[in-house]
Amino acid sequence: MEHRHLGRSGLKVSEIAYGNWLTHGSQVEEEAAIACVGAALDEGITTFDTADVYAGTRAEEVLGKALNGVRRESIEVFTKIYWPTGPGVNDRGLSRKHIMESAHASLRRLRTDYVDLYQAHRYDYETPLEETLRAFDDLVRQGKVLYIGVSEWRAEQIAAALRVAADLGLDRIVSNQPQYNMIWRVIETEVIPLCEKEGVGQIVWSPIAQGALTGKYQPGGAPPAGSRATDATGSGFIQNYLTDDILSRVQQLAPLAADAGLSLAQLAVAWTLQNPNVSAAIIGASRPDQVRENAKASGVRLDPQLMRRIDDVLGPVIQTDPALTASPPHRP
Ligand SMILES: NC(=O)c1ccc[n+]([C@@H]2O[C@H](COP(=O)([O-])OP(=O)(O)OC[C@H]3O[C@@H](n4cnc5c(N)ncnc54)[C@H](OP(=O)(O)O)[C@@H]3O)[C@@H](O)[C@H]2O)c1
Repeated sequence: MEHRHLGRSGLKVSEIAYGNWLTHGSQVEEEAAIACVGAALDEGITTFDTADVYAGTRAEEVLGKALNGVRRESIEVFTKIYWPTGPGVNDRGLSRKHIMESAHASLRRLRTDYVDLYQAHRYDYETPLEETLRAFDDLVRQGKVLYIGVSEWRAEQIAAALRVAADLGLDRIVSNQPQYNMIWRVIETEVIPLCEKEGVGQIVWSPIAQGALTGKYQPGGAPPAGSRATDATGSGFIQNYLTDDILSRVQQLAPLAADAGLSLAQLAVAWTLQNPNVSAAIIGASRPDQVRENAKASGVRLDPQLMRRIDDVLGPVIQTDPALTASPPHRP
């Protein structure tokens, strides 16, 4: 497993990270979740991503249990805040109150004194940026959070956060966590150029488009049993990728992957890592063998001709509009 710097910071992360959205505490039993974390550790993955909201807070608990006993200095634990974690009007968003309450709850569930990266899961239009960044900075000064980042923020929002931090002498964000894969490329025109200039790294999610880029979903066919597309919660999230147009184009990628000696999943993960502004690709898994397969994408270099052929095959299904990066106008 190769490691990269998280943006311009001194922190190193495994270029393939493991995340537990939709799986731990939800789609998969605890035993399978713990086996997936074990497989990740065996493959040299040191970076683990979760969020307070995943599985109604249960995902952090399962990850905390699975990582219990692992040398703390050998792993990087990331979590996030923004989406609702309770019924109250203040159980959501990026206010000082919710940040302080939710950060402490996350630490308890994760069984750790600090998280390596604390991320604003979306932009909160109802809280002044100064309030959020000052609360994050306080957590950093208290040693409860080592680095701060954001997720799915637009270029102008990231730029504003950097400006406020510089003006007020607050800790600076080191990362952004956007969706990024061969189909979803909306960060390429605005977010990445800004982040390259400012030393902010991308920790990208859904590198295999939730499974759609593995080739296991056939155009016109029923989804395989036990897959995300058959899961009560997961099916809603993966739906947009399961069009016949996308799925038949993915089938056409299979010979390109085979020529490169890769599985389709490995090709997809490796594709995201060709971008030097990407610090890590976060993979999800419902079974340990998926972790073992996908982790092998570390260190793979794809030649420019292959990259062009991928673009040719996917053509019109590639999404590039930066306006597709959006946070809710009001707190959910
Ligand atoms: N910041 C955000 O807003 C945000 C949003 C979403 C995710 N994330 C982060 O990104 C992480 C990864 O997201 P993701 O789970 O969507 O990533 P992904 O790696 O694109 O998809 C993972 C899913 O694909 C299927 N899969 C994985 N490897 C496979 C293989 N080799 N062959 C066949 N199927 C395979 C599995 O689902 P099945 O086996 O069930 O089909 C697995 O759960 C999350 O855990 C979370 O940490 C962040």
